[in-house]
Amino acid sequence: MTSRTFVMAKPDAVERGLVGEIVSRLERKGLTLVAAELRSVSQELAQEHYAEHADKPFYDELVAFLTRSPVFAMVVEGPGDDTWELCRILIGKTKVTDAQPGSIRGDFATTTNENLVHGSDGTESAAREIKLWFGDRA
Ligand code: TYD
Ligand code: MG
Repeated sequence: MTSRTFVMAKPDAVERGLVGEIVSRLERKGLTLVAAELRSVSQELAQEHYAEHADKPFYDELVAFLTRSPVFAMVVEGPGDDTWELCRILIGKTKVTDAQPGSIRGDFATTTNENLVHGSDGTESAAREIKLWFGDRA
């Protein structure tokens, strides 16, 4: 039973030349890219993507960060029903000081605000985000 999730190398990852490293970690795990694109992000798309955080104090800064420079958006597929969860483990914890070495954030991020990668946090958000970012193209 395959499943798909949405993963994105955020502007800091593209700026730092870490897209290849991030894709490589997903692929070495055994996951597959089924769609991917480097793209600029509009204010509207960034706001919609992070709509769940609209009332948080970091929301405006988060939207500004996501629109700063292009992102590398991906649809990632794995053989089980837990692809979103496998990706979250590879990505690492949100808070920078909780992100373990061996995870992408643990190995490469130094702040919580700019933590390199986004991964959907469940089956429903994966479906929502794949549709939001790729529409009928995935
Ligand atoms: P969240 O969805 O909680 O984390 P994750 O990316 O692990 O799913 O938050 C979205 C992003 O918002 C997070 O990647 C970085 C940013 N953020 C902050 O800048 N400050 C914070 O205190 C939190 C919780 C998140
Ligand atoms: Mg999240």
